[in-house]
Amino acid sequence: MRKFSLFAAALAVAAVGLVGRPAATAEDKKKDDRPDIVVPYVPTHEKVVAAMLKLAAVKEGETVYDLGCGDGRITIAAVKDFKAKRGLGIDFNPERLKDCEKRVAELKLSDEETKKLTFKQGDVLKMTPEDFKDVDVVTLYLLPAVNLKLEPVLKKGLRPGARVVSHDFDMGDWKADKKEEVEADRKHTIYLWVIPGA
Ligand SMILES: C[S@@+](CC[C@H](N)C(=O)[O-])C[C@H]1O[C@@H](n2cnc3c(N)ncnc32)[C@H](O)[C@@H]1O
Repeated sequence: MRKFSLFAAALAVAAVGLVGRPAATAEDKKKDDRPDIVVPYVPTHEKVVAAMLKLAAVKEGETVYDLGCGDGRITIAAVKDFKAKRGLGIDFNPERLKDCEKRVAELKLSDEETKKLTFKQGDVLKMTPEDFKDVDVVTLYLLPAVNLKLEPVLKKGLRPGARVVSHDFDMGDWKADKKEEVEADRKHTIYLWVIPGA
């Protein structure tokens, strides 16, 4: 319950920040490469990470992308524990990318595992369907508004049989194929969508 409250509080602060921001000038916009919607950093509990990858049925040799990757824990677990052949984590915040490197070092990943992981800076709201054409599993712990913006891009870009898993937030009218509750520090909800046509 505490972590959820913290996330809710962080979201409230972010929302106030967004609402309170004065209209940006063209000059500000050049300097300000923050995403349109800023989602605060709250790492997914490790038990929930494992449950998300299990729900997505990540198999050996698959490619997993985590959009808004935080400290990289989801793609690291995909490579280390689920034998994914490639994990890509994207985060707009360079501090998070340093956290990813730190986590890889702390967990003492092998060179082979490390080579399978890429962490890069970017705004997931600027990704295109083309970016997802070779991806088997996409993981999300963002916000409902961000999920809704990603939905058409994921539906268009992912191939049949690819899976999307989201922590705590659904996709509005795009009904999940499965929904599970995971008891960890609090009750978490995880959602699975499978791209039809496989
Ligand atoms: C709630 S945290 C989730 C972190 C990680 N996926 C996990 O589950 O542990 C959301 C992360 O998304 C990043 N983020 C938010 N909006 C983003 C955007 N538009 N593009 C890229 N990263 C974003 C934040 O910096 C933060 O690290």
